[in-house]
Amino acid sequence: MKNYKIAVIKGDGIGPEIVDQALKVLDKAGEKFGFTCQYQYTQMGGCAIDETGQPLPPGTVNVCKEADCVLLGAVGGEKWDTLPGHLRPEAGLLGMRSALGLFANLRPAQIFEALKDASPIKAEVIGDSLDIMVVRELTGGIYFGERGRCEKDGHPAAFDTEMYTVPEIERIARVGFEMARKRDKKLCSVDKANVLESSRLWRETVIELSKDYPDVELTHMYVDNCAMQLIRHPSQFDVIVTSNIFGDILSDEASMLSGSIGMLASASLAEGTFGLYEPIHGSAPDIAGQDLANPLATILSIAMMLRYSFEQEEAAIAIERAVNEAMKTARTPDIYEEGFKKIGTNEMGDLVVSLL
Ligand code: IPM
Ligand code: MG
Repeated sequence: MKNYKIAVIKGDGIGPEIVDQALKVLDKAGEKFGFTCQYQYTQMGGCAIDETGQPLPPGTVNVCKEADCVLLGAVGGEKWDTLPGHLRPEAGLLGMRSALGLFANLRPAQIFEALKDASPIKAEVIGDSLDIMVVRELTGGIYFGERGRCEKDGHPAAFDTEMYTVPEIERIARVGFEMARKRDKKLCSVDKANVLESSRLWRETVIELSKDYPDVELTHMYVDNCAMQLIRHPSQFDVIVTSNIFGDILSDEASMLSGSIGMLASASLAEGTFGLYEPIHGSAPDIAGQDLANPLATILSIAMMLRYSFEQEEAAIAIERAVNEAMKTARTPDIYEEGFKKIGTNEMGDLVVSLL
């Protein structure tokens, strides 16, 4: 029987309670599909700061490296917002992405049949279905470029640098093309090539690579236009591939199309099968520990883990199906509608387990 080693970072706020539900579901999937999981708990983010003074203690990266993949709840909270940049929970997250080589961030934005009315966009604009995959570069660009404070024209100034190498662009574009190949075969590369030199290199490189993917229809879009098109005509998109900062912004926008941020999962992948899986929502400290949080995004992150790190497609589909079934009868407060049973975090976890 296959045994998977998973590093688990419960994190801050609602992190622990949503991760507990996801692990219940993963254990049940193992029973059903014939694999076992071994969990190695470790820390990053606010809790880590409280205990060790560092958002990413050195031991954490090692625990993750020894595992087959990582499950992360959520990190951060107001409590740590006034610390200097390098000591904030966000620094832990960025350090982890970099140390683990997690260069490809997959952020699906989809509308769940049962939650169609939750979208803030008119039904006729959304159309029959919405299923966009944002592929965001995650370990390069302006997030990791040279930065600093200086002086200009006699005034205090600051700078951050956007820089990409051809290999960095190629490897993320390849993820985009491969993803499109498995879906509707449409890839939209988003840049700002009318202004930025780094974007011009991005576009040239993507065009060059497209020769390896004649079956994928490649288009290019400026990021400002893409922000507008996501609202105007979202169903034109299949896979979007873009830089770190554009992907940060566009994936938040795309997630809102579904109207239910508590439902969206994400994967951050390294070369090979290693990945980190987490819900896209934050740590919601205001509702932490009250059995109010929606665990479904974390549970859907488990489905992504099974799909991308473990090639357990059948188990992944079964979890996604169980989540869809669960939503037909019961809802956590964030997506509650009249006519459904209102349930808490724990009960939602149990419901998905029972439907699996
Ligand atoms: C995200 C977040 C992070 C990012 C922050 C918390 C550093 O916004 O994962 O999208 O900007 O990448
Ligand atoms: Mg973001």
